Amino acid sequence: MKPDVMADGIYRVAAKIGNRDLFEGIWPIPHGVMLNAYIVKGSEKTAMIDLVKDWDGASEAVDRQLDELDSNNGNLDFLILNHMEPDHTGAMVAFVEKHPNVEILCSDKAVALIRHFYKIEKNVRPVKDGETIDLGGKTLKFFMTPNIHWPETMMTYAVEDRILFSCDAFGSFGQYEHCFDDELTLRERTLLEGETERYYANIVSSFSSFVLRGIAKLADLPISQVAPSHGVVWRGEPEKIIAWYKSLATYMDGPREKEITVIWSSMYGNTAALVPFVVEGAESEGLKVHVLEIPQTHASFVLEKAWRSEGLVIGMPTYEYKMFPPMYHILDLLERSHVQKRKTMRFGSFGWSGGAQKQFDVFSETMKLDCVGVVEYQGSATEEDKKRAYAMAKEMARQIRNA
Ligand SMILES: Cc1cc2nc3c(=O)[nH]c(=O)nc-3n(C[C@H](O)[C@H](O)[C@H](O)COP(=O)(O)O)c2cc1C
Ligand SMILES: [Fe+2]
Ligand SMILES: [Fe+2]
Repeated sequence: MKPDVMADGIYRVAAKIGNRDLFEGIWPIPHGVMLNAYIVKGSEKTAMIDLVKDWDGASEAVDRQLDELDSNNGNLDFLILNHMEPDHTGAMVAFVEKHPNVEILCSDKAVALIRHFYKIEKNVRPVKDGETIDLGGKTLKFFMTPNIHWPETMMTYAVEDRILFSCDAFGSFGQYEHCFDDELTLRERTLLEGETERYYANIVSSFSSFVLRGIAKLADLPISQVAPSHGVVWRGEPEKIIAWYKSLATYMDGPREKEITVIWSSMYGNTAALVPFVVEGAESEGLKVHVLEIPQTHASFVLEKAWRSEGLVIGMPTYEYKMFPPMYHILDLLERSHVQKRKTMRFGSFGWSGGAQKQFDVFSETMKLDCVGVVEYQGSATEEDKKRAYAMAKEMARQIRNA
């Protein structure tokens, strides 16, 4: 890749990561992911904002771009670390060996993380909220935005060019040929649509209250470009990604989309038999219904749909006196991500004494779910069970539609 020119003296140096690995060791990236770092050159000094990790050739790719920008021969003065997660700092030890005099600027909380992760203490200087540095005609200002999504996270703002380097915030999964939102192909735009939402639900959703706080803090800042560490640079419509993140964060407590996500699993078909009735009942009120079978569908995609949906239907049988294990995993992830306060119903089969419902009730309580009802039955579903499931899903959809 070539460095992308964002403004006079400001460049993106990025790498494309393929689809072989899981992101954070858990989330699939079937369309890859971008790792974006940035260079800001003033008349006197040069800063690099964020690094990459040695992943799928990213270090080498960025290194070559630094060569092209003549920023690789002791010409860098500052390394700004907005966030310490290894996808943005993994290459740090090699980087510091190559640039021994670079001053590392970061938040207070990042100092200890740098020491623990990389055993680096020299030339590390914490910056304060609102502090600026002058590169010569280019001023960089730092904003502390904790917990989006680690405690040490901050953002860097190029004052004269009005560019916000937001690191993980405002990011997306997916690999894009083009750097800027205003030059994407239709295919890339469609990809960005889904991959922003899935990224948010997987990586950021848990921290939604901090996202809203961060967005409020930046509200008066004039922004011409939003430059995150994953995805594209928002130059055409920087306000769009900020508004989009705001609405994604709002899904935590609502309102959210008047849609229903049906998550179901079944060993022998007894629970599965009710799925079409539930779906038809929900759809009969005109609502969009997402149907996801687990464990066949990865949790990443389940979380994406559940995050946006006002309604949640859980279908599962009892397994060894408890919930079906893949559903436990899903509910645990949903709970951690603060999928909460949804309209819900549950259905499922058991063989002799059940147990799934008891365990589900605990989740229902901690996730503050508003449970419309339960259709649980022994063995195979009767015609009556099917009718009840249809009616319950319809009622749930009606309540969501009219809310
Ligand atoms: C490995 C295994 C463990 C089970 N454990 C229980 C149990 O603890 N209590 C119970 O009532 N039924 C239990 N069952 C019975 C299932 O809940 C029952 O067969 C149910 O109909 C399965 O629904 P499905 O066809 O949707 O998979 C178990 C079944 C299997 C295969
Ligand atoms: Fe991160
Ligand atoms: Fe990241």
